Amino acid sequence: MKALVLAGGSGSRLRPITHTSAKQLLPVANKPVLFYGLEAIRDAGISDVGIVVGDTAAAIEAAVGDGRAFGLDVTYIRQDAPRGLAHAVLITRDFLGDDDFVMYLGDNFIVGGISPLVDEFRSGRPDAQIMLTTVPDPRQFGVAELDDAGEVVGLEEKPPHPKSDLALVGVYIFTPDVHEAVRHLAPSGRGELEITEALQWLIDNGHKVRSTTISGYWKDTGNVADMLEVNRIVLEGVEARQQGVVDDASEFIGRVVIESGAWVSRSRIVGPAIIGAGTRVERSYIGPFTSVAQDCVIVDSEIEYSIIMRGASVRGVRRIEASLIGHDVEVTPAPRVPKAHRLVLGDHSKVQISS
Ligand code: DAU
Repeated sequence: MKALVLAGGSGSRLRPITHTSAKQLLPVANKPVLFYGLEAIRDAGISDVGIVVGDTAAAIEAAVGDGRAFGLDVTYIRQDAPRGLAHAVLITRDFLGDDDFVMYLGDNFIVGGISPLVDEFRSGRPDAQIMLTTVPDPRQFGVAELDDAGEVVGLEEKPPHPKSDLALVGVYIFTPDVHEAVRHLAPSGRGELEITEALQWLIDNGHKVRSTTISGYWKDTGNVADMLEVNRIVLEGVEARQQGVVDDASEFIGRVVIESGAWVSRSRIVGPAIIGAGTRVERSYIGPFTSVAQDCVIVDSEIEYSIIMRGASVRGVRRIEASLIGHDVEVTPAPRVPKAHRLVLGDHSKVQISS
């Protein structure tokens, strides 16, 4: 069995961060979200992985390399534009050959990994296997309709009037039958070749599509609120570890990770939280569910329930909450006079100012 990981696309709901970064590389507990997926694939016993990349190919390739660090053998396949999940299957036909494969959306996060799904597929080998979960607003997802016997009878992509609250999770397992299905598709209303339509084609043509409904935790990290939630869930599982330099005037409560080369002085950190290598935290409060990446500077500030990305600096700011702060961003107070906000914001930035 092979795996196809989708790491192209545009990430429009995470702008401006995704103007310069691939959304699959946004950090969760200081590790790119994509890495959790690659580890889940490896843990399911799959080593031959194709990664579909788009405009951010260079960054993805620099981060993942040849896959050896994950115990994987990675092949990159370039997609000229985000033409849909089924388009990704179409263009990777040669790589996939006649193998069964897991298709994994690189911005999805599944607690507990994919081994149970892969095992279930292997036990009965249906023509395709999908994962479903109930969501409050199914209109943002692919939605499945099941009959009384629990069989999948219909699938729709982001329907305005969903027939159920069962969303398609971004992990699918296919037999080579899917290749015929994707050849029959035409672009949808949003101009993409939809994998939901390929699945519907399989059902309509007498193929067996089996579903598993998971109750465990799953998130599509497509927006800021979901990113912060996934970060919270992962931090819930960290073990306290202090490898950096910490002074006696600092206080740590709960599970706090200080990576080697970090430096903390006269600060209070309430876990779960992680402070990255090369980061300096001085006279500051870092609250629960906060990840501060590598080479940041946090001085005279208070931050809680946030993700701070590599090289950012926050000085003299009380208090930052529920925020996603990008690479090399600087946040400081404005001069006292005149009393004004001074902003240099990239395209599509979002700022909420308490004044
Ligand atoms: O997250 C689950 C949902 O994922 C499913 O419920 C939907 O049925 C499915 O269509 C998909 O919806 P999204 O609109 O969230 O997909 P998105 O455009 O965010 O793409 C998912 C991943 O695949 C992301 O890592 C980018 C990558 N991608 C996407 C497209 C459209 C590609 O690599 N190539 C593409 O052409």
